[in-house]
Amino acid sequence: MKIVVTAGPTREPIDPVRFISNRSSGKMGYALAEAALAANHEVTLISGPVALSEPPGARIVRIVTSDELYEAVHENVRDCNVLVMCAAVSDYKPLTTLPQKMAKQRGEWALQLTTTRDILSSLPREDRSYLVVGFAAETHDLAASARKKLSEKNCDLMIANDVSGSDAGMESDDNEVTIFFPNGEEKRIPRARKNIIAREIMKIVFALHEKSLTKNL
Ligand code: CTP
Repeated sequence: MKIVVTAGPTREPIDPVRFISNRSSGKMGYALAEAALAANHEVTLISGPVALSEPPGARIVRIVTSDELYEAVHENVRDCNVLVMCAAVSDYKPLTTLPQKMAKQRGEWALQLTTTRDILSSLPREDRSYLVVGFAAETHDLAASARKKLSEKNCDLMIANDVSGSDAGMESDDNEVTIFFPNGEEKRIPRARKNIIAREIMKIVFALHEKSLTKNL
């Protein structure tokens, strides 16, 4: 199978030396790419700026901004079987990017932001030839928010992780996730190293892909 995984944060430039970003380390996305490679699949890893070494065997596409990620996803999903959207895409970007470093202002200063495009919501909703797996990062109301994102973003699976603590989720080597299925089912994967979690997630993704193939026969 051809699997596209997005990983890491995006950076939205304010000026040549400053940006808006988030705490995503990319570890979960890289672990998912490694799990897919270990199962002998072809992997394209679309990666934001992270301090991780490239998984051997993956095709790497480097992006920085949410707009670059948007273009890279649309370019690479066309002939894939599964898209795993693990990247932590910035929801906002500066309305304008200054061409030169901004000098310090006196007193208060407000930065005007505008929303970025939602990549999952921009994918075709009908007759898709690939499965779409979303990741929901939540600090509260995890199940309700993840279910809402599953349906609004038209995903085949939504994987929710609690990012409120420092012992699991963003930046950590560990994670614990709950997988939400469109039929209302859910499956919890208890706390473990991200590579173990990734293997479990990919097993479920592969099984779902098998099922979708038999359904289409
Ligand atoms: N996502 C996306 N495009 C965006 C923002 C998020 O495709 N502009 C994707 C993420 O890659 C992830 C999923 O949507 O797979 C859920 O991301 P999350 O940050 O949890 O949700 P948001 O839609 O940003 O909602 P909120 O920040 O309000 O929780």
